[in-house]
Amino acid sequence: MKILIAGSDGYLGWPLGLHLAERGHQVTGVDSLFRRRWVLEIGSDSATPILDADGRSAAWERRFRTPHDFVCGSLTDWELASRLVRDRRPDAIVHLAENPSAPWSMIDAAHAADTHVNNLVGTLNLLHAMRDFAPDCHLLKLGTMGEYGTPNVDIPEGFFEIDYRGRHDRLPFPRQAGSWYHQTKVHDSNNIAMACRIWGLRSTDVMQGVVFGTRIDAMGSDDELLSRFDFDHCFGTALNRFCALAVIGQPLTVYGKGGQTRGFLPLRDSIQCLTLALENPPAKGEYRVFNQFEEVYRVADLAGMVRRVGERSFGLSVEVRHVENPRKEAEEHYYHPDHRPLLDLGYVPTHDIEKEIELSMSDLLRCRERIASHSEVLLPDIRWDGRRSRVSYLS
Ligand SMILES: NC(=O)c1ccc[n+]([C@@H]2O[C@H](COP(=O)([O-])OP(=O)(O)OC[C@H]3O[C@@H](n4cnc5c(N)ncnc54)[C@H](O)[C@@H]3O)[C@@H](O)[C@H]2O)c1
Repeated sequence: MKILIAGSDGYLGWPLGLHLAERGHQVTGVDSLFRRRWVLEIGSDSATPILDADGRSAAWERRFRTPHDFVCGSLTDWELASRLVRDRRPDAIVHLAENPSAPWSMIDAAHAADTHVNNLVGTLNLLHAMRDFAPDCHLLKLGTMGEYGTPNVDIPEGFFEIDYRGRHDRLPFPRQAGSWYHQTKVHDSNNIAMACRIWGLRSTDVMQGVVFGTRIDAMGSDDELLSRFDFDHCFGTALNRFCALAVIGQPLTVYGKGGQTRGFLPLRDSIQCLTLALENPPAKGEYRVFNQFEEVYRVADLAGMVRRVGERSFGLSVEVRHVENPRKEAEEHYYHPDHRPLLDLGYVPTHDIEKEIELSMSDLLRCRERIASHSEVLLPDIRWDGRRSRVSYLS
């Protein structure tokens, strides 16, 4: 297949490109490199030392012995987005090219607006380019499980059946975002569903859980093929942050009670699921939703797992500490989302989470100086009420 990966320089996009090229797909990448800039703005850097865009292209060419088809630019630029779709005529577009940070979107009005413009305009441009130049193309779009919030009932995959005042329908399941970032994903979902309805486009909207880990098999032992890995309070996600904190001897910081329950999945599972969705596209005009995660875990339990692995496998002394929760969220709640279609398509989940944590920690131990040199970005200081002040440890 000809596959355009938007966001190909990112945490997921880079390994996905490697994996798809290894499977014989023809991959084009586009990325504005915004993520690199945003992380610098926070005062952080990737724990894994990643090459610049030219260096990555050279590493790709060494690995696959073909030129790396990479375009540097933003999807918010209609000329660029439409030219890419018109010239490459992809069979599928994987759209990862958004700002993925809830805290960043909560800093102030300017950051909330930037997140909206970047995420919504990029998606709108892709939808219009598909309508005009590639109407049969499959849009594989990354949304998040966070779109649903934490309702006190089971969460289906996108839609639910409802009887109301004597009538029956299948309707979108309510979305209850908890940050401006999550809200952009909800808007995207509505926009994509409408484009499928009115223009007959096809799309898979992936409600993805929190991804963790450093490795997929296609990287082999070549460190130049490693993906970026963020550990700061703004762009680092829960389990990745815990692993990074453990290797530098800092307490694992659990927000509030730690009963927040979410879907999680290893990087290799995310790549596996996205590949399954690409290779099994929806019908023309179909808008389908997949909930994508391996299993649901309480955040405090994950911290306990990282402590166990750190002590058992690396002889580290790992402390778990609770801190004030900078977010507005339920800290103990019901959480029961479905995740059936990907399993039906052949997804084989990596159930050995502790093994995956061990692999990540062994990579991160080699990067501990890089992490330790950014110790000022480990504790959150972006609060959902608008204040910018570092959280305190709870007794
Ligand atoms: N990593 C996770 O745990 C996770 C969980 C759920 C959903 N997601 C979603 O998956 C997608 C990929 O996540 P990630 O962790 O790889 O994030 P990432 O930030 O590492 O990757 C996104 C890439 O897109 C690029 N980008 C952003 N805006 C762009 C634009 N306008 N034009 C071109 N490129 C642009 C960035 O420079 C970055 O390289 C995101 O949409 C994210 O919201 C990620």
